[in-house]
Amino acid sequence: MCEQQKQVKCKIGPSILNADLSNLEGACVKMLDCGADYLHLDVMDGHFVPNLTFGHPLVKCLRPKVPKAFFDMHMMVADPEQWIEPMADAGADQYTFHIEATKDAPTLARKIKEAGMKVGIGIKPGTPVESVMPYADLADMILVMTVEPGFGGQKFMADMMPKVKYLREKFPDMDIEVDGGVGLSTIDACAKAGANMIVSGSAVVKAEDPQSVISQLRESVVRAL
Ligand code: DX5
Ligand code: ZN
Repeated sequence: MCEQQKQVKCKIGPSILNADLSNLEGACVKMLDCGADYLHLDVMDGHFVPNLTFGHPLVKCLRPKVPKAFFDMHMMVADPEQWIEPMADAGADQYTFHIEATKDAPTLARKIKEAGMKVGIGIKPGTPVESVMPYADLADMILVMTVEPGFGGQKFMADMMPKVKYLREKFPDMDIEVDGGVGLSTIDACAKAGANMIVSGSAVVKAEDPQSVISQLRESVVRAL
């Protein structure tokens, strides 16, 4: 279904940031039942971004509730090194740090791998795609932000698509993720540019029929791949 000639697979990862956080287990189970391939968990520390969400204690509680779910941690934090061990211990599968938050991406990537997690590297809208190139070989996934990180429900920045296209051309087999304002009206642009990991928050979580939205997002990406 989501397979194609290249190695990359289409994966849809709802962001539960705008879900009912008082019933996070319910929100996660619902997304998985609706066809989510993974869960995108947004960690904000009030420093790297002007907002606060949750940290490893919550992830640790959530882990046994959805034991098979892939946890993609989007670490919008000022000191990404600090949370590697706690997040690994909590059961995170992939740890995405922002290139803007570190002076030593290679060490971070190594520590994330040593802790048993996959490595993601994210770039904010104002960060040129070239800044990630020296470290791309160390990453399992590159995240191109399509809004300023910090809040769900913002408007998609179509002018980020050249970054995605550039990365896809350079790395045909790399996981490339888009995050921010991605929904039914913006997925085609992401898919055409070459994104294969699709984060969608409000468009999925607030939909009357999340299953239908997830399958339409998937169809768009599979068509483009
Ligand atoms: C924004 C977060 C996103 C956000 C996506 O800083 O990284 O993951 O929750 O939500 P939507 O899809 O509503 O923009
Ligand atoms: Zn995110």
